[in-house]
Amino acid sequence: MLGDDPTIEPMTEADIDATLAIDLASFHPRDIGGEREDPRRAREENLREELARTWARLRVARGRGGDVLGYILFWHVVDEIHLLNVAVAPAARRRGVGRALVDDLVAFARRERAAKVLLEVRASNEPAIRLYERLGFARFNVRKAYYSDGEDGVEMMLELDPP
Ligand SMILES: CC(C)(COP(=O)(O)OP(=O)(O)OC[C@H]1O[C@@H](n2cnc3c(N)ncnc32)[C@H](O)[C@@H]1OP(=O)(O)O)[C@@H](O)C(=O)NCCC(=O)NCCS
Repeated sequence: MLGDDPTIEPMTEADIDATLAIDLASFHPRDIGGEREDPRRAREENLREELARTWARLRVARGRGGDVLGYILFWHVVDEIHLLNVAVAPAARRRGVGRALVDDLVAFARRERAAKVLLEVRASNEPAIRLYERLGFARFNVRKAYYSDGEDGVEMMLELDPP
């Protein structure tokens, strides 16, 4: 990130508004649970639920001034890590923030001696698929018409070396 790496740290309640703004700018409402109601409210409830889940991890990437540039959500389930969401503010993209967030997740997975990191991504989401491939993830399955609008879901995995 041009010598100015973001700081990655756990998300707190104080980060919810900034995270929601990034979320709403990054995902279609149907993908974040708010197609039929107020997407912001639905998403805020969901974020608060995730913050309360003992197996969920939410981390934010901060710029120099402390502003939230992006966030990542993943679940730690036995020896697997499931990456559920990663999003970067549109104005902060292509500066290495997404990579820093996924790198941090992989470091967490290694520390916790997880066997693999799993994720699913829309087949058309080339920026995300490229990011994951650059970090060593491989496609292992396509779920036909997985998304509600009929788009395929690509399943990807990063296998970690046994400790
Ligand atoms: C996917 C996303 C998180 C990437 O964040 P980012 O901070 O822009 O990514 P980085 O700058 O760290 O990019 C790392 C690598 O990913 C790939 N990449 C990222 N954006 C790309 C794009 N628009 N087109 C092609 N490759 C891209 C590149 O290989 C890039 O390396 P490079 O810049 O050296 O070429 C961001 O585009 C985003 O928030 N998208 C909307 C939300 C989303 O779809 N999330 C993923 C599904 S959960």
